[in-house]
Amino acid sequence: QTPTPQWRPVYHFTPAKNWTNDPNGLIYLDGEYHLYYQHNPFENKWGHMSWGHATSKDLVNWKHLPVAIPEIEKKDTTTWIFSGCAVLDTKNTSGFGQNGKAPLVAVYTADQPKQQLETQFVAYSNDGGASFAQYAGNPVVNIQKKDFRDPSVVWMEDQQQWIMTVAVPHEHKLQFYASKNLRDWTLKGEFGNQGDIRKIWECPSMTPLFVDGDPAKKKWLLMISSGNQDGATGMQYFTGDFDGKTFTNDRPANYQLFVDYGRTYYAAIPYNNLPDGRQMMLGWLMPFETPTYPWRGQMSIPRDLALKSGTDGVLLYQQPAATLDKILAALPAAKKLVMQQTDIRSKEMQLNKGGKFDANTNWADLIFVPGTAKEFGLKLVQNKDTKSEAILGYNPATNELYVATVKDGQSAVTTDKLTVKPVNGKIRLQVLLDKSSLEVFVNGGEKVLTTLLFPDAKATGWAVFAKEGDVKLESLKAWN
Ligand code: FRU
Repeated sequence: QTPTPQWRPVYHFTPAKNWTNDPNGLIYLDGEYHLYYQHNPFENKWGHMSWGHATSKDLVNWKHLPVAIPEIEKKDTTTWIFSGCAVLDTKNTSGFGQNGKAPLVAVYTADQPKQQLETQFVAYSNDGGASFAQYAGNPVVNIQKKDFRDPSVVWMEDQQQWIMTVAVPHEHKLQFYASKNLRDWTLKGEFGNQGDIRKIWECPSMTPLFVDGDPAKKKWLLMISSGNQDGATGMQYFTGDFDGKTFTNDRPANYQLFVDYGRTYYAAIPYNNLPDGRQMMLGWLMPFETPTYPWRGQMSIPRDLALKSGTDGVLLYQQPAATLDKILAALPAAKKLVMQQTDIRSKEMQLNKGGKFDANTNWADLIFVPGTAKEFGLKLVQNKDTKSEAILGYNPATNELYVATVKDGQSAVTTDKLTVKPVNGKIRLQVLLDKSSLEVFVNGGEKVLTTLLFPDAKATGWAVFAKEGDVKLESLKAWN
């Protein structure tokens, strides 16, 4: 197979080689972000599921480490290490700790294909997350089902107990289990058949957040990997109250809310143990269309989570992790571009003058004030020779934001879209292009559209445009 370095992201995580899907066991420990991930250590396709491992101090530069939890081969049983979480057991409730040091405890799904069985297993690490020992009493939860997976555990301080949320995918149902010691678990409640049930439910998570940052207004964000608004793969969320047994949805049962409007953002889970009550998640950008080599699959940009109240109730807002601002700020002036108060009328305005920016990898933050233009936005990865480009366009009449690709001068094919209205007369687009992924945060993260692109490696053009009329580009900040 031909290597595809032209599609290897620069500021997103990919395994050095071979397959990845879901992020697992996301946890911040002693100044380092740990990323475990569903990994096939042997091939560039799904299989031999194990927890791959990488760490980073800044969420951009990752150190690749040996597989942390490998598949388990026994005489009649193969155990694959499916998705799950990791918690720091500060009080050593599990008793797995050694020498007074808090153990790191991974709670994950053991998938046993021969037995057609999924149960929940526990493993622990006393070397800072490099290696794990399997708990001898596994499984810790077994309801004799073929599909029963993706545990997510939180410590509920007020109840002095751990709560595990697990999915029963084909029943569109979650179960809540409680434990004092991470070993013995009791079923406390269930939640299901609400929101979007067109696809199976996987990778649930429960995250406490303060609405509008107000400590008096605590809500739980429940996220589930299922479908997007069009019934393709994606994620949905609910907001509500949670007492360890019952999740009370803020909205009517059939109401649907989506985390991302593309077809590639999946299996995102929150980071545990972040300082200052920060909540941040990382998702998998699932491969579709063209395969990459020698790796397959990549992670999204880490996203800060917030709940904000408005006329439509409490909604999820996502932003690229604020800690990344430092990295952008530290780039040399030659890698930055700033523009203000520029009117664009019925034209395309090249941003990549002199070709000093890499048209395949950049990050831009734009604020537009719609005028008479029928459409405005960005043209990405343009190649004049092959007549190819990607268009990120907004239509003020329909409030539609779309991504379309043009190949060989053929007409634009829309791949993804969402609807969003201007806020105070403005549309803000944070556009993260990284070789083969495109993440667009609209209006400060009110909606997000993530997609994969497999553009021409020799693209040089990068432009803002207004079609049949004018738009004001109030401000543009871009980083190469
Ligand atoms: C989601 C998922 C999880 C499972 C894992 C297996 O992508 O199907 O439900 O634990 O992948 O790799």
